[in-house]
Order: sequence, then C-alpha cells, then structure tokens
Amino acid sequence: MTAAAQGGGPGTGPTANGEPFVILGIETSCDETAAALVADGSSVISSVVSSQVDLHARFGGVVPEIASRAHVQVLTPVIAQVLVEAGLEGSGIDAVAATIGPGLVGALLVGMSAAKALALVWDVPFIGVNHLEGHLYASFLERPDLELPTVVLLVSGGHTQLVLMEGHGRYRMLGGTVDDAVGEAYDKVGRFLGLGYPGGPVIDRLAAAGDPEAVKFPRPMLNDGHDFSFSGLKTAVVQYIRAHPDTPVADVAASFQAAVVDVLVTKAMRAAVDTGAKGICIGGGVAANSALRARIVEACDEAGIASFVPSREMCTDNAAMIAAAAWWRYQADGPTSLAVGASPNLRLV
Ligand code: KG4
Ligand code: ZN
Repeated sequence: MTAAAQGGGPGTGPTANGEPFVILGIETSCDETAAALVADGSSVISSVVSSQVDLHARFGGVVPEIASRAHVQVLTPVIAQVLVEAGLEGSGIDAVAATIGPGLVGALLVGMSAAKALALVWDVPFIGVNHLEGHLYASFLERPDLELPTVVLLVSGGHTQLVLMEGHGRYRMLGGTVDDAVGEAYDKVGRFLGLGYPGGPVIDRLAAAGDPEAVKFPRPMLNDGHDFSFSGLKTAVVQYIRAHPDTPVADVAASFQAAVVDVLVTKAMRAAVDTGAKGICIGGGVAANSALRARIVEACDEAGIASFVPSREMCTDNAAMIAAAAWWRYQADGPTSLAVGASPNLRLV
C-alpha cells in the first residue's frame, strides 16, 4: 500500500516504497473529455483528450446539456484508454483528481463523480482541482525548473487573467477582463465572419495570409492598468464588416488579431515590470495562437526576462495539467473531502 492509501497528507512526496506517485487526472469542465496519468506531478505517463467540438459546432458554441451527455458517454472509454496505454490497473494509481470548477456545472459533475467513485473503489485519496490552477501547472509539466515569481497570462474561451505566481499555490490576481474573455471574442468574431466554431484556430490561420495593418481596430484599455476589455473590439469588427463587406476576410482576421495580441502582450509586459517578475508564461486555449506565441517571446527577449510558451496541446484543455496541479495541491492540503461539490464560478484567488 502506498503512503497515499495509508492516508499520507500534506508534505507527502513519493510513495512509501519509493515508487513514483501516480495520479489519475480527469477533466470535464467544458467540451473536452480528458484523462491522464502523471507521475510525481511532472512526468506524463499517458494522456487522452476527446474533443466534443464537432457536436457543438453547428450551434456556434458549447451547449451545456450536450456537453454533459457527451462526457457521460465517453469518459469511461477515455479513462480505460489511459490505463491501457500506461499498462496500469487501479492498483497502480495513488490518487484520483478531477476538476471541480470553474466550468459548466453538469459537465463538472460528470468528471468529479467518476473521480470520487474511483477513489472509493481503489481506496485512494480524491483531489479536487481548480481548472485555472491546472492551466498554470501546464507550464510546470514541460518546464519544472520555471523560476518564480512569474506572471501568467491565462487566456481561454472562459477566462482572461493576469496572475502573479509567487510560489506553488500562492497567487496574486493582477487583472482580468471586465466583459468578454479573449477566446470568446475570437469565437464571436469567427461566428460573424461565418468561420464556424471555435473561431480562434481559423482566425489564427487566416490571419497569417492577411495584412495586420489593413484596419486599425481599437486596442481597448491598452494604457489602463492590468484589466482587459474585448467586447468593444468585437463590436468594432462587426460594425466594420457591415460597413465594408468587401474587405478580404484574411485582412479583417489579421487586423483583429493584431489588436488582440498588442493588448495581451503590452499588459503582460507591464505586469512583469510592475511586479518585478522573473518571467512570463502563457496558458489557456488562446495561448495556442501563433502571433501571441511569437510576440510574447520577442517582447520578453527584448526586456531581458524569461518567457515560457507551452506546447499547443498543453495550452488547450487536458487532464495532464489537472493531475500536475493535483500533485502540488495534495502536498499542500492533503486529500479533498468527498463531500465537496462542483463550483461553476470557482476563483483562483
Ligand atoms: O482553454 P480552452 O481549450 O477552453 C476553455 O477553458 O475555454 O480554450 C478554448 C478557446 C476558444 O475560445 C478557442 O477559440 C481559443 O481557445 N483558441 C484560439 C486558438 N486555439 C484555440 N484562439 C486563438 N488562436 C488559436 N490558435
Ligand atoms: Zn481551459
């Protein structure tokens, strides 16, 4: 029996027999059904992500009820696949972790209930994880030596936040969006341009062939602290297309993206200067964006601070990042009570 199964709590590192501590992570907060096995919070043994994007595409966004049902259908096969790929059975798992928020309540409940059930059956701890903390820990999976404090720019379909990570589990919220999340703006502009859902990857691709200076879109709140606003920019794009329907889509995409990236990079750099951070990491689905990835590295190089841009798979939702965050959470707080509920609006700090 491992240290965890014996009830090892905060500070528990490796298992009692010196074997790596293996966490099964489960992620079902939105439209990705994912499971992963991670050893000692840093080594991914296996990871599977099943995307529901095709189910939601014709509705132009995620439909919560469809998401929950799809999680119910595919979660068991996804978990089975990570176990088979790793050649492990329940007896090789030291803890089971799942996202408990923020996210869609029905979707969260599916993963969380499965994780609790498996923890009971295998007699190992359950660890509830904040999805946003998962995105922060995606960077540590690929760069365990990341120096702290670091500014993390967390940009996804549901979130746009600037966080100062001062230590493991120690965060300071520097700023956030006052209206739409940046991924939401990408998806809404994409829908208006008839590009399907999600809009981000398509706009990114189209922008590569367009002129980023074709249209001078506004840079909302550029010189104004650490908060963001993307709703006005989205409306400016919509109004421009209505007034100039013949503008090439690639030019609109490139100009919209230039405005977004200008704002994100300027604000992340300001946050690093204001806090004296040693570097900047990016995370969340929008961190897969080519222009953002290139510009943040350039800006950090110029400023002489470190930058870290995770692989694209680690930017979008996955369960390896949940298992990695769970490892640190478990060492700090021990197991999570099985009485914990799903928290659709869970905050990082
Ligand atoms: O983190 P994520 O997978 O799910 C949420 O927690 O929201 O992020 C999904 C978001 C979507 O809004 C999608 O359009 C955006 O990330 N996205 C991108 C790119 N790839 C995904 N946005 C801009 N450029 C991309 N390459
Ligand atoms: Zn996410």
